Formats: sequence, C-alpha cells, structure tokens
Amino acid sequence: MAAGVQPGLEAGLGTREVDAGDSDLGESELKRPLPQLLDEPLPAEVMLQVHTLILETRSLHWPDEAACAAFAATLSRRPALREAYIELHGPLGAGKTTFARHLLRALGVQGHIKSPTYAVVETYGLPGLAISHFDFYRFDDAQEWEDAGFRELFAAPGLKLAEWPEKAAPLLPEADLQLHIEPGDDDGREVRIEARTARGAALLA
Ligand SMILES: Nc1ncnc2c1ncn2[C@@H]1O[C@H](COP(=O)(O)OP(=O)(O)OP(=O)(O)O)[C@@H](O)[C@H]1O
Ligand SMILES: [Mg+2]
Repeated sequence: MAAGVQPGLEAGLGTREVDAGDSDLGESELKRPLPQLLDEPLPAEVMLQVHTLILETRSLHWPDEAACAAFAATLSRRPALREAYIELHGPLGAGKTTFARHLLRALGVQGHIKSPTYAVVETYGLPGLAISHFDFYRFDDAQEWEDAGFRELFAAPGLKLAEWPEKAAPLLPEADLQLHIEPGDDDGREVRIEARTARGAALLA
C-alpha cells in the first residue's frame, strides 16, 4: 500500500493531494515586483509555470492488473473523457498500453487492440466517439506530424491517448491528464495522476 493511500480506494480515482510544488509561483517569484499588467509582458519563466500548472494530483496503488482495469473502467464512465487528451508516462513495460487497452475495452472497443508502437497511431470509431491511441516511442521526424495527419487527429473531436509523449513534446497540446506509472514489485504499480486542465480536474472530480 502506497504511503497516504487509504485502503479500499485503489479502484477509484485515488487519494487527493494538495500539490505543493507546481501549483503556485513559488517564494522567489513572489518576492519580485509584479510586472505592470498590459504594459509589460510576463517573464518567460512565469509563462512557463503558467503552462505547466498542475490543478490536482492523485496517488494510486495498483496491486495487480485487475486494479489497473478497475481504474480504467471508472474513468471510462466520466463524460469529460470523450474530448480528453491523456498522456501515459512510464518506463518500458510500465503498463501504458495495458491501461489503454482496458480503457478502450471499457469504452466498448471490441476485437484485438493493437499496440501502436509500430504504426505510431491506432484509431477507433465507436458510435459518437473517435479514439486515437498514439505511441511516440519511434517518432523522430517532425515532418511526420504533418504528413501522417497527426495534427488533424489532435484537432478533431474525440479521446486521444499518448504513450511516450515526451518524444513529440513540442508538437503536443497540454494534456488534460497525465498518468505516471511506476513499476513496483511483481505486478504492483505506483501511479501519480496529474490534472493539468479544467477538463482533467473534472475527470478526477
Ligand atoms: N498492475 C499492472 N498494471 C498494468 N500492467 C501490468 C500490471 N501488472 C502486470 N502488468 C503487465 O505488465 C505489462 C505491461 O506492458 P505494456 O505493454 O502495457 O507496457 P508499456 O508501458 O506500454 O511499455 P512500452 O513502453 O514498451 O510501450 C503487461 O504484460 C501487463 O500484463
Ligand atoms: Mg506500450
């Protein structure tokens, strides 16, 4: 059981934490004179912090894959998911594709759900819901973003999931949710979930 995780909550959306590190501008920022609004642009480091604001953080412990599946099923019932962009972070074999498969299955995708590792993206069309599941592990050519139509997929309505988003970071929008999956002993996983937009916070509400 992870520190701070209450028994019985593992299959839900986790324990709530007040984020101490990223949700404010920090002491050193506050000691500086405030820029004259309208006359002076905000300093770049302040703008960077605005763009990386974390609205909510949750910590989960998945003791096994069934807990991963239970969390995916809970998330699949949230209406805000239908327009969400969710990033899946974690090392090789962490469980990013496994989580995506459980989520897609819970949403109603049938048949084999391929890992997008080779194709970079797999798309699914459910009644009233388009889903794009990306894996940017092999993505190394920004031109492919345009040529393969990834820009259009991100601009279109629907759910977007991305594994290895750090490999395409400059091209990607701000995620609504980031899942950070860390392998533990055997099948255990420690999972930190960060809501980075109002939609992401609604997903965790
Ligand atoms: N608690 C758990 N949650 C998720 N997967 C688990 C868990 N316990 C065991 N597993 C297993 O761990 C493996 C995770 O592999 P998966 O392909 O999902 O990793 P990945 O993060 O997508 O890796 P890659 O970076 O190579 O794409 C699967 O075989 C899955 O069955
Ligand atoms: Mg994967």
